[in-house]
Amino acid sequence: MNSEVSKSRRVVWLTPWLSVLMACSSMNGTPQDADAGGLLDAQSLDVVDDLPQAPLPVVHGLSELPDQSPDPRVVEVDLTAASGEAMYVQDRWTRILAYNNSSPGPLLHARVGDRVIVHFRNNMPDDTTVHWHGLRISDQMDGSPRIQAPVPAHGSFTYDFVVPEPGTFWYHSHVSSIEQIDRGLYGAIVVHEASPPRFNAERIFVLDDVRLDANYQIGRFLTSGPDVGRGRTGNYLLTNGTAGTYALTVPRGGVERWRIINTANARTMSLAVLGANIRVIATDGGFLPTPYAPDRLEIAPGQRLELEVRVSDPDAEHVELLSFVLVQRSDGTIGEEAIPIVDATIEGSVDPVEPTYPTVRLPETSVPAEERQLLLSGGVVDGGVEFTINGVAGHGHDHPVTERVMQGMPQRWTITSQVSPEHPFHLHGQFFQIVERGGVPVTDEPGLRDTVLVRGNEPVTILTYFENPGRWMYHCHISEHSERGMMAEIQVTPNP
Ligand code: C2O
Ligand code: CU
Repeated sequence: MNSEVSKSRRVVWLTPWLSVLMACSSMNGTPQDADAGGLLDAQSLDVVDDLPQAPLPVVHGLSELPDQSPDPRVVEVDLTAASGEAMYVQDRWTRILAYNNSSPGPLLHARVGDRVIVHFRNNMPDDTTVHWHGLRISDQMDGSPRIQAPVPAHGSFTYDFVVPEPGTFWYHSHVSSIEQIDRGLYGAIVVHEASPPRFNAERIFVLDDVRLDANYQIGRFLTSGPDVGRGRTGNYLLTNGTAGTYALTVPRGGVERWRIINTANARTMSLAVLGANIRVIATDGGFLPTPYAPDRLEIAPGQRLELEVRVSDPDAEHVELLSFVLVQRSDGTIGEEAIPIVDATIEGSVDPVEPTYPTVRLPETSVPAEERQLLLSGGVVDGGVEFTINGVAGHGHDHPVTERVMQGMPQRWTITSQVSPEHPFHLHGQFFQIVERGGVPVTDEPGLRDTVLVRGNEPVTILTYFENPGRWMYHCHISEHSERGMMAEIQVTPNP
């Protein structure tokens, strides 16, 4: 990276229509072999109840929700949604919605197998629920407004669940998501492994974009035009709630774990790291069987990536996370620009710690998968835009469950889009593998996901085993689409 970009501290103003054209390079990585030495057996990751509990690894970047429980296997926290303020631009206050006065909300972290109790309070004038995106918990605690009566103004609800597997997840409102998530109601969840791989440091970066008007307030929500067609994008990129470049220091020599979450309404992020050697080690559903090193990291709304970052370049002075956006240049042409969203100045040094990753086997079965086709479409109905899945607009909170499947039965869903350039398609309560794009086997999107980017003219096939019984929503994670109908629900019947 040239020093000009690395030293810039600009807040880049993106015109909304341009920002939606943001580049989407695919992950053209070459898989690399994992370090074969001393791999943990998957069994050793199982939770052992009488194991003395080491403190949870520190995750730098976000404040933590204070755990009030004396029981080491219980994490008990208070979470309150209310209006708040953020200073995205110096000396300018923007009115937002916040969890515990902060956006992103504080980090919820726990160890796999822990019971998590969240005393949630709604201090907003509008209904809300909290959804724990990616956690395969009971559907009763999922925050689905089809199951849980939304928490009214000044109401409360206690979420109580056991976190079943390690990984990087997030929480967000699931009512009026277009506005509530965009105004700030989201936060990160880290579920640590029973014996986490050791790193020199762990960091988390929650990415978003926000559209500020001339008064530095969150711009009006439009009900037509590109905001609906493509979803709402912002004119400021946010990293852990900071507009412009998020600055920190890292020691030379370290091997770090960086967790990245895309919480934006509609912006797929295309990222790269400069000044360090990286490998993708985990996705939505945890560690990969084999880490890989793509040139660009593509992360659609809802998705997570975990990186192993080696600060090993002797000549580097900074490690930067760049976000590639399309901008209009002064001469009127449109070009890709690399915005440094994270600038880590290399300071001091440490001896590298060599992480040892668990052996991961993705689920398999000899039972043939049932095939299902999903068509994402939409049109104008009564003067407004309506989006559909297989011709049905899943409006409201009481739409009947139409799909049923037996727990553990593999299904291949081929999802085809006829409308809008992109749909980050999300399935609650389950993980899946991305197996084909345009009928061709996918090799560069490994691991387990709960969200997949569906592009126009390219059907995507996913394979899921429906391991978690219950009623589960599936929808486009562009809230402008899901709240206008691109949402449905499937019932997974317990297998006796
Ligand atoms: Cu993160 Cu139903 O969503
Ligand atoms: Cu969509």
